[in-house]
Amino acid sequence: MKEIVLSGIRPTGNLHLGNYYGAVQNFIKLQDNYNCYFFIADYHSLTTHPHPDDLHGRVKQILVEYLAAGLDPEKATLYVQSDVPEVVELYLFLNMNAYIGELERVTTFKEKVRKQPDNVNAGLLTYPTLMAADILIHKSNYIPVGKDQEQNLEKARDFAERFNRIYGVDFFPVPQAFNYGNALIKVPGLDGSGKMGKSEGEGNAIFLCEDDKSIRKKVMRAVTDSGPTEPNQVKPEPIQNLFNLMKIVSAPETVQFFDDAYNNMNIRYGDMKKQLAEDIIKVVTPFRERIIELSNDDEYIKKVARMGAEKAHESASKTIKEVREIIGFRSF
Ligand code: ADP
Ligand code: TRP
Repeated sequence: MKEIVLSGIRPTGNLHLGNYYGAVQNFIKLQDNYNCYFFIADYHSLTTHPHPDDLHGRVKQILVEYLAAGLDPEKATLYVQSDVPEVVELYLFLNMNAYIGELERVTTFKEKVRKQPDNVNAGLLTYPTLMAADILIHKSNYIPVGKDQEQNLEKARDFAERFNRIYGVDFFPVPQAFNYGNALIKVPGLDGSGKMGKSEGEGNAIFLCEDDKSIRKKVMRAVTDSGPTEPNQVKPEPIQNLFNLMKIVSAPETVQFFDDAYNNMNIRYGDMKKQLAEDIIKVVTPFRERIIELSNDDEYIKKVARMGAEKAHESASKTIKEVREIIGFRSF
């Protein structure tokens, strides 16, 4: 039997090139070799109290973008978390053996307390138990997530082991972080700082749904400097970032051409950016076209969501039935 891979995505914004090259591309590879579950974590997003009129649209948008990027509903189970309420039942069970002290020590929780002191709700505190429930409900083996999720995953491992120990069973596999080996890449943003991200400020990220004009504008505004002052100089960070981005989207000859120009001190950043913008447009255009196409195909999206819900529900209800038995619930 194939091992189980699972990952969740919060519906908090549009997919950008960083998400694509850093995460989705790996999901696409994984879906061929593992039994994959990819879900949209809409329960988790309630910690920030989204308006009811916005929630569904955000979930739909992210589903559309993941499909447009290449996740295949015939290969992986793509589902919306709130379509599988068994997760909430497991969350309740896990919460009974999750201790306030350990939850309060989770770094992401401490960060939220610092950043939003007026909304420190119990959902935030128990975010790691909900995440553990997501993982354990399908008895998942591997979890492809970024470094920021390491501690949440550690809690999921603790909760799985604890459940097994308390009930004297070998029921939940202990989930492992999925290691992509050397394939881990960081896509730089356009503002000169390290990383492309949706929360790094306006103009830093290029989205898969973005139009050509806006891409050109953002790239032309990318941070550069007044140029090299000696041959073969080490590139300062914003320039190196621009080259790194180019390495991801452009042909090797193109990168070589501008690299030579830099080393010979005759580089024109304007030309480099124009080329970079056109190469990004080549990458983004098919995604954008598919996003538009899929956004208008409500029937298909509905079918995908239903199919995912059904498959996820089947696996989840089997787990929850067994968990109830283990805990000692018996029907009359
Ligand atoms: P954001 O940083 O825009 O808020 P998320 O934190 O929602 O994005 O990340 C979703 C996934 O995309 C994670 O697996 C994360 O590691 C990956 N990711 C986000 N930004 C980048 C980037 N610039 N380079 C590589 N991977 C990234
Ligand atoms: N916490 C993850 C994030 O913020 C999203 C997530 C929720 C998740 N449940 C999960 C990731 C289960 C992996 C497995 O990105």
